[in-house]
Amino acid sequence: MSATLINGKNLAEQIKNNLAQQIAALQTPPQLDIVLVGHDDASEIYVRNKIKAAEHINLKTVLHRFDENITENELSAMVEKLNADKNVNGIIVQLPLPPHIDTHRIINLIEPKKDVDGFHPYNTGLLQNNQVPYFIAATPLGVMRLIQTVCPNLSGKNVVIIGASLIVGRPLATLLLNQECTVTITHIHTKNIKELTQKADIVVAACGVANLVKADWIKSGAVLIDVGINRCNGKICGDIDFASVQDKAGAITPVPGGVGPMTIAMLLENTVNAYLLQNQKK
Ligand code: GUN
Repeated sequence: MSATLINGKNLAEQIKNNLAQQIAALQTPPQLDIVLVGHDDASEIYVRNKIKAAEHINLKTVLHRFDENITENELSAMVEKLNADKNVNGIIVQLPLPPHIDTHRIINLIEPKKDVDGFHPYNTGLLQNNQVPYFIAATPLGVMRLIQTVCPNLSGKNVVIIGASLIVGRPLATLLLNQECTVTITHIHTKNIKELTQKADIVVAACGVANLVKADWIKSGAVLIDVGINRCNGKICGDIDFASVQDKAGAITPVPGGVGPMTIAMLLENTVNAYLLQNQKK
């Protein structure tokens, strides 16, 4: 039997349609300011996609582009300027930043109520404490929504996450733990990841290794979420070998059309929520 396809593109469209209606009812459109340093290829694509999706729902974006030689102090001053600007509802600093800049210092400067990426320690700290932060990072939030379409009750599920990044693996582990899952985070130093994924009810692959997860890595009927975006022979593919697992998995997200569109929808949702928070409607 073939796995159920978890259609992130459709779910993201529904969410964006709802956001468009919400925005149409507001006095002014919410504003998202994006800080982009240098010319990282992937960042250029991500930022372009975020702006395009925002424009589609009449959410205003302002892109602040900087040369890769910008100093840490100049970038800090920019963040502080955006913090103070009442027209700015959400701020994202696209990562990665060039190596001469201390990323934590920059992220830690963002006003938590404008931190629509959910990366500030105020927001990650509340999440860790199982309290409600202002914002949760878009990719893990999108992954949770996708899992919940096929697995509404997560209590007691065994989940293995491949990848321990600050942007995906770690916050996702916390979100799943907060839903009473038993979570194993694996990473580059984990011995025999396959032995762990074979026992998992849910596997989330977010490691950036093309087609890593094969049929013999998973339990029959497992839910598979693929966060990977890799280039393979001129095509985009994920961290899960779709062809290999599709007759064994219970449900799976495609690449493209799975987690990617949901990440953008969650960022837009966070920005609308930032507007409501700052205008005391939430
Ligand atoms: N780089 C890769 N993913 C992200 C993201 O979600 N937010 C930001 N700011 N940078 C990223």
